[in-house]
Amino acid sequence: MEREKITIPDILEKRRQGQKITMLTAYDYPTALLVDRAGIDMILVGDSLGMVVLGYETTVPVTMDEMIHHTKAVVRGARFAMVVGDMPFMSYNTSEQDAIVNAGRFIKEGGADAVKLEGGTTVQNIVEAIARAGIPVMGHIGLTPQTISQLGGFKVQGRSAGAAKKIIEDAKALEDAGAFSLVLEAIPAEIAERITGNVRIPTIGIGAGISCDGQVLVYQDMVGLFDRFVPKFVKQYSQVGEIMLHSFKQFKEEVEKGVFPGEEHSFRMGQKELKKI
Ligand code: KIV
Repeated sequence: MEREKITIPDILEKRRQGQKITMLTAYDYPTALLVDRAGIDMILVGDSLGMVVLGYETTVPVTMDEMIHHTKAVVRGARFAMVVGDMPFMSYNTSEQDAIVNAGRFIKEGGADAVKLEGGTTVQNIVEAIARAGIPVMGHIGLTPQTISQLGGFKVQGRSAGAAKKIIEDAKALEDAGAFSLVLEAIPAEIAERITGNVRIPTIGIGAGISCDGQVLVYQDMVGLFDRFVPKFVKQYSQVGEIMLHSFKQFKEEVEKGVFPGEEHSFRMGQKELKKI
């Protein structure tokens, strides 16, 4: 059967059918092509861009312009996968109007299909405003990297009963606000299971156990391309960084030894033309 572009009703239907939903990050055209070819349902142009591509310490400095630039590249490579643009810090927290304008930029300029933003009850009105403007919103609760200094670092959230209740409340608030799905990051599996059972929208886990409706990972983490730290919830499927490093070293050695380029990589003039110069 001919594959078709994944839409929000497809994502909701997958949950209804009990089929797992897959999402990976991508930040450029070649990666988007590969993720798309692998049949992944959604591509998240995450603001993790700041850490895994741009080399910032956290996601906080990432700008709207940087996000739009990378979203455009991903959209060019994503034929089937739904593309979700991640709203950077302070692009939605300031007012409902700013949030609608910036979410609109992801859709109109970036070509994304939906946006994601971090926070629970505190951003309920923002999610509602963006959704009312006709833009699909994915929520993100638990560990929210944009507020990492308030959370005291990249730590598991919701381990105490009080903190867990708050995350469950956040999930309900986002569902009521009209979010079409929820990312649950770094929370105990029991809490993710409770949320998944209590909401009608799909939950996408990252460090939230097996019960979520789907799973997301930052692609550099799962292919071994980001080694500053590897969270416990990441499974490394390959060591692409090692393969690249080996290739770079080989290139250096072969150029220095005169092995590369070989005859097969060189162009030649015809003898007749050569004689004229
Ligand atoms: O920015 C990102 O990549 C994310 C994922 C970790 C869900 O928000």
